[in-house]
Amino acid sequence: MSLKSIFMGLALGLAASVSYGQYNTLHIPDTLSGTTFNLNMRDSFVQFRTGNQTITAGINGAFWGPTLFFNKGDSVHMNVRNYLNDTTTLHWHGFHLPAVMDGGPHQTIPPGAIWRPYWKVTNNASTYWYHPHLHMSTEKQLIEGLGGFIIVRDAAEAALALPRTYGIDDIPLALTSRSFDASNAFTSTSAYGDYMVVNGTMNPQVSLPKQYVRLRILNAEMERGYNLGFSDNRTFYVIGNDGGLLDAPVPVTRVKLLVGERIEILVNLTGDAVGSSIDLKAYNAGFPLGWPGGEPGTTGPFGSLLNNINFNILHINVAAATTGAITALPSSLVSNTYLTAGDATVTRTLNVTDGTPGRPFYFDHANFDLATINHTLQLNTVEKWTVVNNNVFGHSFHIHDIQFKIISRSSGPVNAYESGWKDSYYLGINETVSFVAKFDDYADDIHPFMYHCHMAPHEDGGLMGQFVVRDATGVNNTIKDPADFKVYPNPANDRIYFSFNDPTMQAYYVTITNAVGRTLYMLPRPHLADGIDISKFAQGNYFVQLTDEATKKVITKHFIKQ
Ligand code: C2O
Ligand code: CU
Repeated sequence: MSLKSIFMGLALGLAASVSYGQYNTLHIPDTLSGTTFNLNMRDSFVQFRTGNQTITAGINGAFWGPTLFFNKGDSVHMNVRNYLNDTTTLHWHGFHLPAVMDGGPHQTIPPGAIWRPYWKVTNNASTYWYHPHLHMSTEKQLIEGLGGFIIVRDAAEAALALPRTYGIDDIPLALTSRSFDASNAFTSTSAYGDYMVVNGTMNPQVSLPKQYVRLRILNAEMERGYNLGFSDNRTFYVIGNDGGLLDAPVPVTRVKLLVGERIEILVNLTGDAVGSSIDLKAYNAGFPLGWPGGEPGTTGPFGSLLNNINFNILHINVAAATTGAITALPSSLVSNTYLTAGDATVTRTLNVTDGTPGRPFYFDHANFDLATINHTLQLNTVEKWTVVNNNVFGHSFHIHDIQFKIISRSSGPVNAYESGWKDSYYLGINETVSFVAKFDDYADDIHPFMYHCHMAPHEDGGLMGQFVVRDATGVNNTIKDPADFKVYPNPANDRIYFSFNDPTMQAYYVTITNAVGRTLYMLPRPHLADGIDISKFAQGNYFVQLTDEATKKVITKHFIKQ
């Protein structure tokens, strides 16, 4: 991508927030679809309010990123370029994929490098997201604006009469908030922002047609929970959880959405007059201490102008219906086959405990350590996990690799609106929650998946652990002699190719660095048959580092780009 097209992308990203009256038009993120996705992470700036611009970071734009459309069954290839001044990672939240493609804290992308993960999409149609996950910097990089939606389509969803015209009757809403200092820089002195920001727009409004509309809502906060509802207390319908559609719509007037969670809802606007308006609101007043955002203060480390009050999220103006409008609520959606407690052959319990000064919470008294595998799971096992919170604050528990089914809450019945496939959930004070999940398809003895509280200050503070999924049949475990490989041609102009002396050797990870040790390419499980494009490299000396699949032995070769 040329510098010019990057700046044009930047300008387009900003053009959407035109303001009239007290409201600004809701930004609808641009879309990318297909099977190859180019994501450029870059420092930028946005005019959020009068005065200075705010320093931000965005993906293919100035704040937040494009919405990626995946089709279930496709193999998607990501080219993630880090033009930030910081190391980062990019995690595909909610996706079932190999650990080495996951983008967790281990898959760091140094400045200037390209990371190229790919995987086959096996997730159900639903709303997912991507975001940075660099340990101890997740909050900082999220605040800057890095992240984006992923919408998966599949045949079961496509067969239903649901709104799905993106930006018209199918609207993504990333809910977050920000605080600013006197020079309009984002601040993180409190975990809670003072001003609501939806898709990067402050005080947003949107025109929605007089029909059933679908809102895909993501809690993209650092810490705040949302108790969502509409200003006229109307009933709305939850149709999907984090990892797929529910069996049938669930009517609600309020729904809680914690950090990292997504919900898809249908809102019936067929009876609203054109020109009328309603507000999507957070009914966060009156929550006790421990509900994130329930703190009463407006200043200090947990203070915010939005704490413990009801506040507007999105002003909705009702417009004329579109052709092909959805005007009825489907009575049923998809037929899910959920796991049950009886399917589990292994149980595990995690406790949220005190941390150490400056790090409020740990799992089982242990600070997160990148070098410690906390749990080893066996491939294809159904496990029951129980997370116990006998501590002073609520959390948002999230686990990578799988979608699970919540089977019990000690506080009462599992809410019907969270009865579907989940990857994140609210864990209240003095609450114990159990879920079941099957850990299938991807085994890797070396590379772990994470589980953690999705509240960024807690996660950065060490409320995180990791597990590997092990294939006991041993295919992942063979010890063999380290084989050698060759890089050719050398010197090379356009592409380098690989040949292996030992035909059982397979590339697990290929990294290319230049003569001063700067990482340029990070290629997990690359397709090496086509070689690797080096045509844009400057002339000079390079090193290619190959990790063998079976032995995880790393072998380095030198080549010259001419
Ligand atoms: Cu949304 Cu471990 O991440
Ligand atoms: Cu937490």
